[in-house]
Amino acid sequence: MQHGEQTGHLPFSDPGRWDKMAATYDAQSQPFTAHFAEAAVATLAISPSSKVLDVATGTGVAALAAARTGAQVTAIDFSAGMVQRVRAHGVANIEAQQMDGQALDLPDAAFDAVTSVFGVMLFVDWRAGLREMARVTRPGGSAAIAVWKSPDGAAVHLMVSRIIRTLYPDLAVQSPATGLTALADPGRFAAAVVAAGFVDPKITEVTHDFILDVADDHGADRLFEFGPQWQTLNEAQRAAVAREFAMEVERGRSGNVFLIPSTALIVTARRPS
Ligand SMILES: C[S@@+](CC[C@H](N)C(=O)[O-])C[C@H]1O[C@@H](n2cnc3c(N)ncnc32)[C@H](O)[C@@H]1O
Repeated sequence: MQHGEQTGHLPFSDPGRWDKMAATYDAQSQPFTAHFAEAAVATLAISPSSKVLDVATGTGVAALAAARTGAQVTAIDFSAGMVQRVRAHGVANIEAQQMDGQALDLPDAAFDAVTSVFGVMLFVDWRAGLREMARVTRPGGSAAIAVWKSPDGAAVHLMVSRIIRTLYPDLAVQSPATGLTALADPGRFAAAVVAAGFVDPKITEVTHDFILDVADDHGADRLFEFGPQWQTLNEAQRAAVAREFAMEVERGRSGNVFLIPSTALIVTARRPS
């Protein structure tokens, strides 16, 4: 694909793309998303007798947190590579299955608690993803769903999006995931969860630093490829953005560490009894 070509919903809706990055995600993103996953799972009233579903589990970070309570966990993701990673953890009370979160192949009311951490917000039909989560939650059961508070996402994407807007204010960018924008607003997030079939939504904000290891030469393409604007830049623009990013990191680093605070919204809600 040529730079500047419109990419539509790529790359979030392509399971093959996630397959390719599963190993990197396990190493670099999971230690970061783990903070938020643990916060989300901590809001769920679960015990060893609970059945828990983790939707868009990735490498299994929320599933692992839920499994530590002794609950029986089902972890689903549409990427075979991600599902493999979850199975590789070898945790007896986690069953990982490859499945589309927009059309769960699971019975109604089968789970005491459901969670999705930075997953449903990326679905092409995120409303269907939320509705499916509600459908499989038993009456009185609970949900914890995490999204980013910024439509730009988190970590390096927060910086890169800002840099691109500053350098190229006229660049028209199509969001790769409408849920990323819609659910970043707390009022709309709560309303969407209610529209899906949950009640009593409560939203909390959780902030953690993304730790960029400056010593690791990540390469701009690898670092930024998931940012929507990055795909629309030509080579010269990419080089300019990467230069500005490097200068900001140089100014703000402490030794080999550069911190990027990132904030999530976590909604907890329940199915009516
Ligand atoms: C940003 S990762 C989040 C992973 C994990 N929950 C975490 O917090 O680390 C998003 C995940 O959503 C999955 N995903 C995207 N669209 C999906 C869909 N329609 N059905 C199931 N999984 C999907 C991707 O494969 C990826 O593993």
